[in-house]
Amino acid sequence: MNISILRSHNDEEQTYNVELENVTLLTLLNHIKTKIDPTLTYSHGCRSGVCGSCAVRVNGREQLMCEYKAQDGDTVEPVRNTRVIRDLVVDSSRVERFNRAGMAWSESSKEMNVSAEEMERIETQSDCILCTSCFSACPVYAANPDFIGPFALTRVWRYVNDPRETNSDAKMEAIQTNGIWDCTLCGACVPVCPQAIAPMQDIRMLRTKSGMLGYPDPTMNFGGGFDFGGWNF
Ligand code: FES
Repeated sequence: MNISILRSHNDEEQTYNVELENVTLLTLLNHIKTKIDPTLTYSHGCRSGVCGSCAVRVNGREQLMCEYKAQDGDTVEPVRNTRVIRDLVVDSSRVERFNRAGMAWSESSKEMNVSAEEMERIETQSDCILCTSCFSACPVYAANPDFIGPFALTRVWRYVNDPRETNSDAKMEAIQTNGIWDCTLCGACVPVCPQAIAPMQDIRMLRTKSGMLGYPDPTMNFGGGFDFGGWNF
């Protein structure tokens, strides 16, 4: 099969012809690197969809290389919205910065028993593997490069719903700027998540919780009537 990969040294696609069928993209790239072109650079770790380090874009859509079955004619490029270090390897420091901006971690937690129902409530979001596929698919970065972003906000929702967390208020405060109100609710983050998490839905829930806590909704236009996408009332 033929596979094209965007190379960073000349910003052009390079096409490789590989005599392999029915293999994952990661297996294919390992073959190219060991048999054809040792300069090809990409990252991976667990090879089983757990570590999140092998996300790329295939034919314009985010995929994990260790799970995606390569097809003849595929075009592979690095994930978007972050700096490319080399070929398919990207700089993750921006992603870490957004996690910090949203306080998307457990800062201080108390010792207590957690019921099965309470654990179930945060189970889906706890499955995030930080692959950054949602971050790559998000169109908001074109308008706001400081947007805290879908996966960091999903993690915030996970921690503010954890009964052991003692600093939920600070997290809710942290996501009011460049956070939940900057999301356009377009849903581009949802289908690309390999863990079937729906960040857009979590952002909706964070908006509802913010309203209950008394935070204003800046997307509401109270000053000049109501704005319904071009129709002003
Ligand atoms: Fe770990 Fe693909 S190598 S998720």
